[in-house]
Amino acid sequence: MEHRIAIAPSILAADFARLADEIQAVEQAGATILHIDVMDGHFVPNITIGPPVVECIRKVTSLPLDAHLMIENPGRCVDSFISAGVNWLSVHIEADYHINRTLSHIRERGVLAGVAFNPATPVSMLEEVLPEVDHVLLMTVNPGFGGQRFVPSSLKKIRKLREWIASNGFRTRIEVDGGIGPGNLAEILSAGAEIIVAGSAIFRATRSVSDSFSEMNAIAERHRKASQVV
Ligand code: DX5
Ligand code: ZN
Repeated sequence: MEHRIAIAPSILAADFARLADEIQAVEQAGATILHIDVMDGHFVPNITIGPPVVECIRKVTSLPLDAHLMIENPGRCVDSFISAGVNWLSVHIEADYHINRTLSHIRERGVLAGVAFNPATPVSMLEEVLPEVDHVLLMTVNPGFGGQRFVPSSLKKIRKLREWIASNGFRTRIEVDGGIGPGNLAEILSAGAEIIVAGSAIFRATRSVSDSFSEMNAIAERHRKASQVV
């Protein structure tokens, strides 16, 4: 069953030479979504993976693929990622002059559309696009690298967004990304986040991938029970 609250392992922290095994490990541990970070060396200083790798990932897992495009002018590339097999696709509001067009195009192609935004971008920037998206990807670190510290002011932003979504009766999901692990997960869930991206806490922890995922999933499960949000 797909829950509204889910832990989304980010393969950025995985061992890329053993990617299929790493994906299998989180899938067996109970992951229901997989986060893929795409970086172009322009919007963010780092360069990661592109559509050919996504196509290969598509062949080794049936998990929904959640691609996070940290690239300039993402509108040029969304079709390649959709053809490669992604199911969720987020584009940064800071990187696209015509984000409304890009988001509608993603939806027309039958993929869940998300708007991503950086820690320094206010929630109010989303006003016009919020009704057009399936999810909002609220960055809780400055994008570009895994293993960074959670930006504390993000909690206030999550609460604000949650209130805004609730008061409008939207079904938009809040996804959060960066610096999240077992130590801060409970307060992030209480603030109103639903999809929790975690890279280092799952693939680079002292415990196995499976134990690390299960620990975070157990915290999410307690939250689901306490709040009645499945
Ligand atoms: C950062 C990426 C994140 C990253 C999170 O730019 O968008 O998805 O993988 O990594 P951790 O969980 O290590 O902060
Ligand atoms: Zn990400």
